[in-house]
Amino acid sequence: MSVPPERPHATAPWSATTAAELYGLANWGSPYFGISDRGTVVVHPKGDPADAIDLLDVVEGLATRHLTPPVVLRFSGVLEHRMAHIRTAFDDAITAAEYQGGYTCVYPIKVNQQRHICEEVRDAGQRLGFGLEVGSKPELLAGLALTAGVPDMPLICNGFKDEEFIETAILAAKMGRKILPVAEQPSELELLVRAARAHDVTPRFGIRAKLASGGVGRWAGSGGIRGKFGLSVSQILSSVEYLRREELLEGLQMLHCHIGSQIYDIRTVKFAVSELTQMYCELVKLGAPMGILDLGGGMGVDYDGSQSASDSSVNYSVEQYAADIIYRVRSICDDVGVAHPHIVTESGRSLVAHSGLLVFQVVGSRVFPEEPDQELVRKALTEVDEADVPQPLLDLEDAYGRLFEETCDPVEVYHDAEHALGEAMSLFNLGYMTITARAACEELYWAIGNRVLQAHSDELPEEFHDLRDRLADLYFSNFSLFQSLIDSWGIDQIFPIMPIHRLDEEPTRRGTLADITCDSDGKVERFAGQHGAEQTLPLHALIPQGTNGGPAVEYEPYYMGVFLTGAYQETLGDLHNLFGDTHAVHVVLDEDGGWYLEEVVEGDTVRDVLRYVQFDPAAIRRSMRREIESAVAKKRITLEEGVSMRRFLDDGLDGYTYLE
Ligand SMILES: Cc1ncc(COP(=O)(O)O)c(C=O)c1O
Repeated sequence: MSVPPERPHATAPWSATTAAELYGLANWGSPYFGISDRGTVVVHPKGDPADAIDLLDVVEGLATRHLTPPVVLRFSGVLEHRMAHIRTAFDDAITAAEYQGGYTCVYPIKVNQQRHICEEVRDAGQRLGFGLEVGSKPELLAGLALTAGVPDMPLICNGFKDEEFIETAILAAKMGRKILPVAEQPSELELLVRAARAHDVTPRFGIRAKLASGGVGRWAGSGGIRGKFGLSVSQILSSVEYLRREELLEGLQMLHCHIGSQIYDIRTVKFAVSELTQMYCELVKLGAPMGILDLGGGMGVDYDGSQSASDSSVNYSVEQYAADIIYRVRSICDDVGVAHPHIVTESGRSLVAHSGLLVFQVVGSRVFPEEPDQELVRKALTEVDEADVPQPLLDLEDAYGRLFEETCDPVEVYHDAEHALGEAMSLFNLGYMTITARAACEELYWAIGNRVLQAHSDELPEEFHDLRDRLADLYFSNFSLFQSLIDSWGIDQIFPIMPIHRLDEEPTRRGTLADITCDSDGKVERFAGQHGAEQTLPLHALIPQGTNGGPAVEYEPYYMGVFLTGAYQETLGDLHNLFGDTHAVHVVLDEDGGWYLEEVVEGDTVRDVLRYVQFDPAAIRRSMRREIESAVAKKRITLEEGVSMRRFLDDGLDGYTYLE
């Protein structure tokens, strides 16, 4: 589309500041992302602008190591900084409120189970007083392995549990681990009692409460009385009696809840904290020792930077979240006369989202013409007798011509063009218009649309917003939405997206993004913009490389970054169209202000993904080789062509699943 993106401070010269404002970078990216003087996105792993890792530099450095985008970049420094941020927010709130209990954040490994991330959380967590949370048997084993050398690190076990799960947890506790199983339903308490008897231990455990205060947004169903997990109030009461009868009430040390992820409204947190704390105090009054109040996860991330109570944002800061929790728990406990509990949160998204980002390359674009193809229009006007030229084509040609008259009202011209195009489509569908005439009508219509947008580039009237989005470019991008940004497809999650270079240059186009899967859903059509969510993204024109007069096949590299993707995207992503895991690298700041790769996890090869779906790559290779030999023997292809084909086959099986 020809209308340039509406730019902040239009009269000021273009600068890194203007670029940052255009993409709302400070709103969603502070303090971790900025723009360098050379117009590239930089990462400040410690949240300090003095230390900057240039993303273009990293991507080019990876290319020299034969690691091409799409690639996930993980920044360990950002993760550690985020952990410290949460720690400090709670510590400060505890001091300010003179709270008598402590605080632990446990990282739910389901949010991103990649070993390197879990190890980083564990390592920094020892210093910052963090723990881990697991929710299944494989996660339990991963959690036990991760904490093997650090037996004092808390390990909380949520999720559905069978006898084996519970027995493993009980035995780990007997071995000296600080493990705390949480009963999600009454039957799990019975299993706990059985395992405790069998191994002659008094385990420490928690129960999960089903709160009446539900969550909000997409995960509202995690809480509320119809929530999948947790004990109702009457089940909690009967469980206390059951445990008393079994002489195991002394093991009940924690009350837990989780009202959903991405809680965007702080009021929801306040309601849930109040309800859970009241229940906690009641349990203490009933004689349970308690001591720990686990408020689950849910601290949200401001993906679109709007700081609002909406699905992709939050209306509170980490500090406010911490202060509200500490203040509420303290006042309720003080009122009732109960000792302040140790507070646990299971903040996953808020901990890891900022530390991961995806970089991919744009490989082409579909652009609506700004000038009609005059040759095509002439052909359409002359292919039939003058009297038979379809009226809508004449009307569109006339409308286009009127645009150049001084007295022209572009709005009126556009309305005429809309009407004429509608009629043209009806005539074509009824068989009264040739394909050439239809193509000419479309060309004229698009050109009129583009000119109207240009005429209103300063301020676009409301009625043309839809036109702007319809005529936006489509940038084809080498990645799979289903593998790398599953929440963008599945739940319409907005992720901040912007070019990672050329930001010293004003973007002159607007567009949406299409991935390379054969799925029409593989598109991104909502973006974090200057004023919250937008339908199109400001983009730079692609620069063709070496054309021979025909359409461009290749362009100078144009890299895009999708930010805040560290939570949930990697494990939830799927193999749609057999696009596999992307490469993932851990980038670390070195002492001289440069960077190095601490870990490189190569993405799936074609061979890997074929195996996932039970194809045998060796059998594919054998049968293809037989066919090539036979085609050479029958002289359908030459021997050289056969050799090339074998090479493609072998390289292909060991190659990346994305375009290379
Ligand atoms: C029990 C439990 N704890 C913690 C979390 C993490 O939530 P979040 O990533 O929103 O902090 C979840 C995720 O849904 C969960 O189910």
